[in-house]
Amino acid sequence: MARHLVRLTYYSAVPDDLTKRDLREILAASQQKNRRLEITGGLGFNRRRFIQTLEGDRAAVTGLVQKIFADPRHTAPVITSCHEIVDRAFPDWSMMWLGEELFTEQLMRKYSANPNAVIDDLDDDQLERFVLDLGRELVQRRLDAVVEL
Ligand SMILES: Cc1cc2nc3c(=O)[nH]c(=O)nc-3n(C[C@H](O)[C@H](O)[C@H](O)COP(=O)(O)O)c2cc1C
Repeated sequence: MARHLVRLTYYSAVPDDLTKRDLREILAASQQKNRRLEITGGLGFNRRRFIQTLEGDRAAVTGLVQKIFADPRHTAPVITSCHEIVDRAFPDWSMMWLGEELFTEQLMRKYSANPNAVIDDLDDDQLERFVLDLGRELVQRRLDAVVEL
């Protein structure tokens, strides 16, 4: 049990040469390791941006995020929020793949007509809500997030 449970959200830039195979490897490693660290969360992607939310003990989340930010498979990470929470939004997901299609669709529907530029324009609360909404919507649609990748 985490003594101080936090939720951290960041976005980063996706390199042009990132492959589907890279994504699969990132997700597989995340799901395995996060389970051990009792970290949960969601990872979304739209060719230009990753957005990720990590939930867990604050020391564990801090340690992991340093490792993630040193990963050359993305660049220029920007932390948009990190705060204490009472309940996890992704209790059943060591790392939920939030997909690409729904990511773009949700952005266009809710926030902007331009899915390529908008992530950087959203404020911190909107970004957190965006990730949580994506997760909720995926569960509602009963998509198998991993198969979607
Ligand atoms: C966008 C992105 C998100 C990632 N998310 C996680 C994650 O949630 N958990 C994790 O263990 N690794 C994550 N990784 C991978 C780590 O950077 C690292 O490769 C992985 O933890 C394996 O490290 P190790 O082989 O030293 O144990 C992510 C990488 C990227 C590029």
